[in-house]
Amino acid sequence: MKKTVCVIGLGYVGLPIAVRSVEKGYDVIGYELSKEKVDMINKGKSPIEEKYLDDNMQKFPVKASTDEKVIKKADITLICVPTPVDEFYNPDLSPVIGATEAIIRNLKKGSLVVLESTVNPGVSEEVLKPMFEAAGYKVGTDVFIAHCPERINPGDPKWNVSNIPRVVGSFDKKGLDAAVEYYRNITTGEVRPMKSIREAEAVKILENSFRDINLAFVNEVARSFNILGIDVKDVIAGSATKPFGFMPFYPSCGVGGHCIPVDPYYLIERAKKAGFDHKFLRLSREINNSMPVYAVELLKDALNEVKLPLNGTAVGIMGVAYKANIDDVRESPAVKIMELVKKGGAKMNVFDPHIPKSSNVKTLEEILKKSTALVIATDHNEFKLIDPKLFKKHGIKVIIDGRNCLDKNAIKKLGIVYKGIGR
Ligand SMILES: NC(=O)c1ccc[n+]([C@@H]2O[C@H](COP(=O)([O-])OP(=O)(O)OC[C@H]3O[C@@H](n4cnc5c(N)ncnc54)[C@H](O)[C@@H]3O)[C@@H](O)[C@H]2O)c1
Repeated sequence: MKKTVCVIGLGYVGLPIAVRSVEKGYDVIGYELSKEKVDMINKGKSPIEEKYLDDNMQKFPVKASTDEKVIKKADITLICVPTPVDEFYNPDLSPVIGATEAIIRNLKKGSLVVLESTVNPGVSEEVLKPMFEAAGYKVGTDVFIAHCPERINPGDPKWNVSNIPRVVGSFDKKGLDAAVEYYRNITTGEVRPMKSIREAEAVKILENSFRDINLAFVNEVARSFNILGIDVKDVIAGSATKPFGFMPFYPSCGVGGHCIPVDPYYLIERAKKAGFDHKFLRLSREINNSMPVYAVELLKDALNEVKLPLNGTAVGIMGVAYKANIDDVRESPAVKIMELVKKGGAKMNVFDPHIPKSSNVKTLEEILKKSTALVIATDHNEFKLIDPKLFKKHGIKVIIDGRNCLDKNAIKKLGIVYKGIGR
């Protein structure tokens, strides 16, 4: 018999797996708090820009609802809600707790509940399990709990929900087997059972902390090389010729998104409660958080070279999304850069071809025409393809290449002040 899957939270993570589950023959229902998203999804439209969804949403339509009672039908419920941090970087588990409460109110006995949201090691054991037990459900009999951290990488042309390898952990063999069976249907990638649910939680935190640390390292190197007059981009390309023991990471005006700048805090805070200080992770977060400020310092220095103050100068911010070719602004360094540029008294123009509602000009031509200085905050393809002569034609005097994605030499030759991140 066909199994029913309920996906709680239809965002960047939940919607693709809901669509994929329809494709693989499950009955699928989505439970989502946002009525706007539910209405769009029920019309076959995606609230987010994502190639996998563009290609598959019409073919494999998902039914969505704002009514939590849809959970009652589910044999498998996936929790795909946000796991943010608060203003003091403390993990905020309230969406996970809210989703779990909704499941408990509507649980089909014997069903499988999988937490996909990124959490620190211990959340399933210390938060989820006690909630079910307090409601009178026995974990391993009345309900099976598993964790399968989502690894989706929005905008990635190669890896998506249908092929990315997964790891799964559970409290018991039955829960593990059921979760592994489901994910082996969903992905063509390896599905690796972990020895415990805590290990599965730790896998994801390790992956994203690893990335944050390496980005912090190249960001620090970029700042040092800037002073030493060395082009970090060229150096990384040189180091990357080593066939082992080196992985290229690239510096930028900041690290954004809902994962990398957030997830390490989940480990930092949980370890702190256990008496361990994650010095390395804290330092990485500090360095990466400082990059937007550094980009604005570069802007001030560059304007100084052409004898212009930030105050009163027309500055164009190119890109608001946290990374190339997507429409997600969560934790985007562009947001911090815009705040600082505005505070500095500049006349600010903003253009992101993927996010018209965050732009105050409509076209690339318009932002070039209206600006004296530019900050490339996102390396969207539309920006990388600009002919440098166009900058000159529109009288651009200064370019801060926050993504090191432009032709430095061609721009400099045109007499424009160019500053990249470490080049
Ligand atoms: N975005 C990514 O690239 C990515 C990649 C891997 C893992 N993750 C992790 O996956 C989780 C979800 O991230 P996302 O990017 O999909 O978030 P998102 O904000 O795009 O989507 C989450 C959705 O959940 C809904 N929601 C919140 N609380 C709810 C509740 N109690 N009941 C029902 N719906 C609720 C929200 O309205 C939202 O639409 C996070 O833990 C994140 O760290 C994200």
